[in-house]
Parts: sequence; C-alpha cells; structure tokens
Amino acid sequence: MMQSDLAGKTALITGGAKRIGAACALALAGAGADIVLHYHHSSEDAEKTADSIRSRGVRAWPLRADLESEKETRGLFEKALDMTGGLDILVNSASIFPDSTVDSFTWAELEQNLRVNTWAPLLLSRLFAAQERFSVPEDPPEAAKLGNIVNFLDTRITDNDSKHAAYALSKRNLFTLTRMLSVACAPGIKVNAIAPGLILPPPGENEEYLEKLRHTNPMRRVGRLEDISSALLFLVANSFITGQVIFVDGGRRIKGSMYGV
Ligand SMILES: NC(=O)c1ccc[n+]([C@@H]2O[C@H](COP(=O)([O-])OP(=O)(O)OC[C@H]3O[C@@H](n4cnc5c(N)ncnc54)[C@H](OP(=O)(O)O)[C@@H]3O)[C@@H](O)[C@H]2O)c1
Repeated sequence: MMQSDLAGKTALITGGAKRIGAACALALAGAGADIVLHYHHSSEDAEKTADSIRSRGVRAWPLRADLESEKETRGLFEKALDMTGGLDILVNSASIFPDSTVDSFTWAELEQNLRVNTWAPLLLSRLFAAQERFSVPEDPPEAAKLGNIVNFLDTRITDNDSKHAAYALSKRNLFTLTRMLSVACAPGIKVNAIAPGLILPPPGENEEYLEKLRHTNPMRRVGRLEDISSALLFLVANSFITGQVIFVDGGRRIKGSMYGV
C-alpha cells in the first residue's frame, strides 16, 4: 500500500481534537481515511479539526469520552463501530502528563495515569482486534487488509523521568503492551508505537519550555508535527513492521536524562 492510499479506510484517533492527535488525524485524512475523532473536554477544537478533516474530502465523526472510565471507553468504541461499520486503524494518542515523584505518588495518582495512558489503549486494542474482519485467517491477509494499531509512548521510557514518575510507569507499560499485542494480534493486525521527544510544550507551558530543553537532544531541535505524522503514515503503510517503536526524538534517548538527574 502506498502512503497516500488510505481511501476507504477508517481510523479512530484518541485525543484527536488538537496538538499531536489532530496532526495525526489530518495526516490520515489527507491520505484518504475517514476519521472517528475522539476528544474529552476540547469539543470546540474537535469540531474545528473535524471540519478540516471534511475539507479534505473524507468523513469525520467527533466523539466524546472520558478514557479514565472503562464504561465510556467501551462506549466510544461501540459508537465508532456504529458510525463506520468497522475500523482499520486505531491511534492511541490521548494521554495525561501530571507531575509526580517516585517517593510520593499515591495509588490514586498512579491509577489515573494507568487508566488513561495504559488501560484505555489496551481496552481499545482488544475491542479493535475482536472485530470480525480480523478473525484469524488461514493464510496471512494481503497487505492492504492489515489492521493497524499505533500507540503513543514517550522517548523518556528509556531513562528515569524523575519528575513524572507515575506517567513514566504508565508509558513503560504501554511499551511492553505494544510488544505483547504485536504477537497477540498477528497476523491480521500490526501493532507499533511512536515515542516522541520534544515536539510541543506540555499543556500549560509555552515555547520557552521547548527552548530550554532543545539542547537535550543531539539534533538540538524541536521536532515538528509533520515529523510525527509522517512516522505514523510510514508505519501504517508498511506491511512487515510490527512490535516496533519509532523514536521521533532527535536522538534524545541516546543522549540521556532530560533534566540531568
Ligand atoms: N507533546 C510532546 O512533545 C510529546 C512528547 C512525548 C510524548 N508525547 C505523547 O504523544 C501523545 C500526544 O501528545 P500531546 O502533547 O498532543 O498530548 P496532550 O495534548 O497532552 O493530550 C492529548 C489529549 O488527551 C486527551 N485526554 C487527556 N485525559 C483524557 C481523559 N481522561 N479522557 C479522554 N481524553 C483525555 C485530551 O483531550 P481533550 O483536550 O479533548 O480533553 C488531550 O487533548 C501523548 O500520548 C503524549 O504522551 C507527546
């Protein structure tokens, strides 16, 4: 399948209203896919992004769900199936990124990180894989029929993020799950991940945050949204890569700790 040939395909993107999720939704839409655009609080951004998706000549369905709730997560998937009749691509981008340290986070804080950043992607992946279209075939399906799950990790899974300990645990779990699911979901579905480095300042921070941390990667740059969305299109188009993580981080994972501690 060529990168630009997603015509007739459908994708569910969590956290798709703005920022990286929206960039991924627009890239998949630009390649021809219809998009179920999940959001939680950002309804206005979701409507705007949905309009931009539709202006590319494909369909868009914004759907709200709190991914901390298992019930709402399951409900999201059911509604997405009703809208589309079946999903070909699942992008787990929604995430929380609260401060916490290993000597002080509470179970409630850890649980919240795990629910949104690990459990919701797993639940959605299970529901995605349970679709009839992916029932285990006798022969491996042709490349064009392969399903795709892409999870969003973080380059920090490779070292110790002392300021976001519970978050780091949740993303590290999602890394392991990506590998487990790549085996469990084969041969009908590929499961891969993207681990961004410095792309956008976290919600509440401004460009200064990025400038201060630019030197933490060998490329001494801030990555662009296109650097992420092109990695996504590549993973979706490739028929033989599964269980893989693409670090889009300017080499940050090799250099070491982001905060020097
Ligand atoms: N930005 C970076 O440079 C960077 C670096 C490393 C890794 N990443 C990873 O890349 C992915 C995208 O990054 P991002 O910066 O675009 O993410 P983000 O802005 O921090 O979060 C994306 C979306 O997650 C949704 N979300 C949060 N809690 C939710 C909940 N309980 N239920 C449902 N949705 C919820 C929010 O939706 P609403 O706004 O609709 O509420 C939010 O817009 C994330 O997985 C992140 O960890 C990003």
